[in-house]
Order: sequence, then structure tokens, then C-alpha cells
Amino acid sequence: MTESRYTAPVQPLYPAAVDPVPLLGLYLEAPLPSGGRFGPWIYGNFIATLDGRIALVNRQTGRLGVAASISDPRDWRLFQELAARADVLITSGRYLRDLRLGTAQDVLPLSSKPPFQDLHAWRTRHGYPPQPDVAVLSASLDFQLPLSLLRQGRRVTVLTTRDAPAEAVARHEGRGARVVPVNEGSAVCGEAAARQLGQMGYRRAYSVTGPYVLHAFLKAGALDGLFLTHRHRIVGGDGYSTIVEGEPLEPPADLRLQWLYLDTATEDAPAQHYAHFSLESPPP
Ligand SMILES: NC(=O)c1ccc[n+]([C@@H]2O[C@H](COP(=O)([O-])OP(=O)(O)OC[C@H]3O[C@@H](n4cnc5c(N)ncnc54)[C@H](OP(=O)(O)O)[C@@H]3O)[C@@H](O)[C@H]2O)c1
Repeated sequence: MTESRYTAPVQPLYPAAVDPVPLLGLYLEAPLPSGGRFGPWIYGNFIATLDGRIALVNRQTGRLGVAASISDPRDWRLFQELAARADVLITSGRYLRDLRLGTAQDVLPLSSKPPFQDLHAWRTRHGYPPQPDVAVLSASLDFQLPLSLLRQGRRVTVLTTRDAPAEAVARHEGRGARVVPVNEGSAVCGEAAARQLGQMGYRRAYSVTGPYVLHAFLKAGALDGLFLTHRHRIVGGDGYSTIVEGEPLEPPADLRLQWLYLDTATEDAPAQHYAHFSLESPPP
């Protein structure tokens, strides 16, 4: 089923300003690598406002979340298309806590809702299992794995450190996950996580997490690609997240623009643009 909200095309701006192209399939059919610097090709994706907000603090709950003023259905379609391309989704302890509180955007994709049925068919056609596997990055292990994930037959791996609490390791393993401590210390190193995912045979890993996981991958030079949607809107506010947080990246991560599309078909809402970057000269 094709929703009318997806029918309007988008305007390619870079590398060439050619005729408009359909939104549907834009990321599903785009050429993407199937191997990265340390294992799978690891890619992240964000929607942000022009003032760089990816999430705002909800005044009622005091919790961070992707506000309606930030999210957009046409971008959500592209988010789902990127999920369809993945062998494994990388999520975080935070996401699984939010899921229980009902503040996460959706259960881990691929969405089973009608507008995304074609993505399931695409996966079947291309020899993928119905849903990507799941890798959870967490130091605390303070979350509950949704049984629905395991019932779907998805392999669930928790990537953590050797300092992880033994009781929580046993709890997650008892539920059916595999818990892999990938390094010493208080935080998972992006390179160690990437190598582990490579050893598990994954070729493409889609990080659907926030700024701290992105920081871990950027710091290690383990992020290979970044998809960034910018809504042409400014929301302000004091309590917010941006795409990466944590200590300064030294050296900074430099990126090369691969493509840029302008989307003006966003129904009573501002335009937005879709950019895809690859990482240049990652740190050693
Ligand atoms: N607009 C968008 O496109 C977009 C995209 C993604 C997220 N968001 C939003 O951004 C907001 C902020 O997300 P967040 O601050 O919670 O960031 P996050 O990076 O998604 O999650 C942080 C959690 O990930 C785990 N983690 C991160 N780095 C780790 C490391 N090196 N080693 C081990 N565990 C690590 C920790 O889990 P433990 O505490 O369990 O150890 C930590 O609490 C959320 O509201 C989210 O919805 C928006």
C-alpha cells in the first residue's frame, strides 16, 4: 500500500541537480557498502532541526524524546528504508528503558505497519530474514529485553564491558540474549563493538541510537556512514540532545557529502533536506 504522503518526489541537489526522483525507494535502492572499517558497514541516522535538536525534554515528564516538532513522516519512511538494508540494528540500554516507559518512537523497526509492508517483501526478495537482528550497547545492563523481540526469532546480542553486573548478565542470558563483554572499563569501545559484529558475520549495522553511542563509534573511527535529515525549522529550548554528545572528539570526525536531496512536499510543514555523508580519514 502506498500512502499519498509518500507520492511527491524529492529534488536531487548533489552530486548533480537533476530531475526530481521518487521518495519511495530513495534509500532502499541506493548503493550502500556491505563492509566497513572494522567489520560491518556501520551507519547512523538522525533527524534534526536547523538549531541541531534531535530530542527535547518533555515538560510534563522531564524526559528526553523526539518531539512532534522534530519528527516527520516522510523522514520516517527513509528511516525504515535504512532499517530494511540492515543485518543488525544497534540500539542502547536507554532505548529499551524508554520502550518500557512508552516514550520510544516505535518498537525496533522494521515496522509491521501497512505503509512498510513493501520493505518486508524487499527483504525476502533479497534473501534477508524478516527482521534485522538486534545488538544492544549498554554498560549498566539496566533494562529489560522485550520478549517480543526474541519471539520474532531475532538474534539479540548485548555488547557490554567486563565490568557489567553479573546478575544482569545472567538475567539477560536467561531471557535468551547473548551477552558479550567486548572490552575492559566502564564503556564499550566502538572498535571492539564493530569487530564483534564483524565476527558474527554482519555486513551492515544500522545504529538507531542517540548521541552517546554515536560518540563511541566516532571516537573509535568505527562509524562508516551518516544519514542526516535537517528540517528547515528552529525550535529552541534549553533541554535537548544533539547528534553527538560527550567529550570533544580529538581529532574531530571529518565527513564527505555523498548526496543531498531537497524535500518540499512535507504537508503544512517546513521543507527538509536529506544528506548522506561518509567518514573521511577516521582517527587511528
Ligand atoms: N532525532 C533523532 O533522529 C534521534 C535519533 C536517536 C535518538 N534520539 C533521541 O535522542 C535522545 C537522547 O538519547 P540518549 O542520550 O539516551 O543516547 P543514546 O546514545 O541512544 O543512549 C545512551 C545509552 O546508551 C548506552 N551507551 C552509550 N554509549 C555507550 C558506551 N560507550 N558503552 C556502553 N553503553 C553505552 C548507555 O546505556 P546504559 O545506561 O544502559 O549503560 C547509555 O545510557 C533520546 O530521547 C532519543 O529518543 C533522536
